[in-house]
Amino acid sequence: MKVTVFGIGYVGLVQAAILASVGHDVLCVDVDQSKVDNLKKGIIPIYEPGLTPIVEETTQNGLLNFTTDAAAGVAHGKIQFIAVGTPPDEDGSADLKYVLAVAETIASHMNEPKFIIDKSTVPVGTADKVTAKVAEVLAGRNLSLDFDVVSNPEFLKEGAAVNDCMKPDRIVVGTDSQAARDAMTELYAPFNRNHDRMIFMDVRSAELTKYAANCMLATKISFMNEMSNLAELLGADIEAVRHGIGSDTRIGYQFIYPGCGYGGSCFPKDVQALVRTAHGIEYQPALLEAVESVNAAQKQKLFKNLSHYFKGDLKGKTIALWGLSFKPQTDDMREASSRVLMEALWQAGAKVQAFDPEAMEECQRIYGDSQELALVGTKESALKGADALVICTEWSQFRAPDFDLIASSLTHPVIVDGRNLYDPKLLKDKGFAYYAIGRGE
Ligand code: UGA
Repeated sequence: MKVTVFGIGYVGLVQAAILASVGHDVLCVDVDQSKVDNLKKGIIPIYEPGLTPIVEETTQNGLLNFTTDAAAGVAHGKIQFIAVGTPPDEDGSADLKYVLAVAETIASHMNEPKFIIDKSTVPVGTADKVTAKVAEVLAGRNLSLDFDVVSNPEFLKEGAAVNDCMKPDRIVVGTDSQAARDAMTELYAPFNRNHDRMIFMDVRSAELTKYAANCMLATKISFMNEMSNLAELLGADIEAVRHGIGSDTRIGYQFIYPGCGYGGSCFPKDVQALVRTAHGIEYQPALLEAVESVNAAQKQKLFKNLSHYFKGDLKGKTIALWGLSFKPQTDDMREASSRVLMEALWQAGAKVQAFDPEAMEECQRIYGDSQELALVGTKESALKGADALVICTEWSQFRAPDFDLIASSLTHPVIVDGRNLYDPKLLKDKGFAYYAIGRGE
């Protein structure tokens, strides 16, 4: 099928490449000329395992193409995906200006019926706004053309996006049009082989499903972070508790890892956006507000632990930091706990020596050159001359480090671990002060 994808960000690029990989003819449109030029040369703007070879293969066989020419994009696909960003505006609501601009572009150029698919995470009611915009522009052109606006939210995880897209748990489609339903069934048939993963519903339910899924997962994490704080105060070990409750299949093991708070481009933004949506309809979402505030407090936890060890005096200290990205297998630092920690450390007069396997360039881009931040090439060099070690991201190379080297490199034998990577007893035996999450000091 001929498909157009507006927006070559994270979601758009992965979706486009995967659709092309199964044989669809996909044209991606973006306003960013340099992004388009780079992609034509096979240079991918994000780090995502497994994506590069798929983009290379599909561009070479001609099924994946990139352009800035919006009119060509509209002419190409019967199916038009909107996969542009919905950044939070000042009050945390999702800003729809890019989504509506694409709707306007599609309506300005279309000369035949189209299926317009919202892939971006958009508030409930957005499909209606897109429909109104398209109808308005078509009326202005004195054209009467059929079109359907469909909600088809994306559930991929950064770092596992290729697999999530190839083997989705579910494909949620919100539409009341049989023609759109048939088109989406045909489009996704290659991903829907062994059992039926298509879940059809009305448009608003599909839009809310996306937020409900992310808010549920964020709730699980904040719940566990709250339990971890209680475990510390009560002398329990949250890792034992996690094991104990995860074995109940009604609860399950996934997304109950306590840590230094959730980050990334989705959970913080989506929880906040749903809170704002609720406020807009005069509903007080007490649970979601608590999820957000527990998370904000949890992001302060690493700094608090360091401060506790150094009795509030961090001035002039150098802190080794392992892990900058909001989670492993990505270079993304949006809303990362590492940023909250670094900024608090600088405020307190400390310096940071940081290492991350993928996010160093991103960190440099965000903070630039600074006396307070040294980005170093290995996890070992981050330790040199440092007073303490903090771990923000559970990259696998941090899981079994040389503890003797850590002890001999640091001026103080202290490890603050935001991801519960090590055995507290082992570290105690080796003479470390070990601050994990919810496991006592
Ligand atoms: C999340 C969802 O998991 C995807 O299903 C969804 O499609 C995506 O948002 C989206 O809306 O686009 P992502 O943000 O890539 O995916 O990352 P996650 O793997 O969900 O991790 C989010 C944060 O939660 C990370 O900071 C991670 O460290 C933290 N986390 C996760 C925990 O602290 N504990 C856990 O048990 C799991």
